[in-house]
Amino acid sequence: MTNTQNGSSDHLLFAKDISMGYAERTVIDTLSLAVETSKVTALVGPNGSGKSTLLKALARLLSVNTGVVYLDGKAITKLPSAVVARRLAILPQGPNAPRGLTMAELVEQRRFPHVGALRMLRHQDHDAIKRALTLTNMTKFAHRSLDTLSGGERQLAWIALTLAQDTSILLLDEPTTFLDIGHLLEVLDLVQQLNQERGMTIILVLHDLNQAARYAHRMVVLNHGQIVADGVPHDVLTPPLLAEVFKVQANIVPDPASNTPICLPYAVVSHEEQPDTVES
Ligand SMILES: Nc1ncnc2c1ncn2[C@@H]1O[C@H](COP(=O)(O)OP(=O)(O)OP(=O)(O)O)[C@@H](O)[C@H]1O
Ligand SMILES: [Mg+2]
Repeated sequence: MTNTQNGSSDHLLFAKDISMGYAERTVIDTLSLAVETSKVTALVGPNGSGKSTLLKALARLLSVNTGVVYLDGKAITKLPSAVVARRLAILPQGPNAPRGLTMAELVEQRRFPHVGALRMLRHQDHDAIKRALTLTNMTKFAHRSLDTLSGGERQLAWIALTLAQDTSILLLDEPTTFLDIGHLLEVLDLVQQLNQERGMTIILVLHDLNQAARYAHRMVVLNHGQIVADGVPHDVLTPPLLAEVFKVQANIVPDPASNTPICLPYAVVSHEEQPDTVES
C-alpha cells in the first residue's frame, strides 16, 4: 500500500489534515492525501462518503475548517485565482449549464486565466480550444448552447471545457455519467492518453470499481469521510474491503484484457451483519 498521509514538495497537490463539512456537520475529519504527480488516482467510495466534498476542497471550491491544501507547495488559499486556474481544472459532479451561452463562448471563458485582464485570445488560446473540442469530438457542437445538448453530449461538453483550461492537474467527478459504453471508454482512454502523453496528474471519482481498477494507477477508498484503503488496484480491491465498505459479497477475477482485478458482486451483506447508524 502506498502512504497517503505523507506529502512532500514533490507533490503538486497535497491535502494535510483537512476537516470540513456543511454547517454544523463534519463530512471529512482530519484527512491527508498526497496526490501522486503524473499518475491517475481513482477516488471511490459509497454514496455520501465525501468524494465530491474532498475533490472540491482540493480545487478550492470549498474551504476547509482545519488543515491545509497545498498546491505546488503553497497553501492554495493564498494563491491568486488565476494561478490556481492555470494549474488545475475541475469537472464538478452535476455542473449547472448556463442558459443561452454556446459551447464556443463557454470554452473561450476557460482561457481567461491564461490571457490576463485584456481578455484577448491569442494563437495558443485558439489552439487549446481547438484541441479540447477535437479530443472530445465536440467541434460539431461548438455553436450549440449546453442546455440544448443531450445528457451525454453535455457531459462531453463539460469535459471539453475542463480540458480547454489546459492545466497539468485534472479533477474529474464522475466524468462518465450519462455516457453510453462506447463514449465511456473513449473518455477513460482519453484520461489515460492525457496522463501518458502529457504527464497530467489526474484524480477521478468513479463508481465503477472495475473501470477504476483498469484505468487508475492508484485507488483511494473513502468511507464516512475517511481514507480506509489506498494503493494499487490489486491490493485495494479485495473481498473484505468490498464487504466492509460497499456491503457486498464479491468474487475478484482478473480482467482478461488488462489483467486488472474485476469485482463480481453476488450478494449484499445482510442487515443483521451491519451495525445500525443514525445520521445526525
Ligand atoms: N451542500 C450540502 N449541504 C449539506 N450537506 C451536504 C452538501 N453537499 C453534500 N452534503 C453531505 O455531505 C456528505 C458527503 O457528500 P458528497 O457529495 O461529498 O458525497 P459523495 O461521496 O460525492 O457521494 P455520491 O457518490 O453520491 O456523489 C453527504 O452526507 C451529503 O449529504
Ligand atoms: Mg459525489
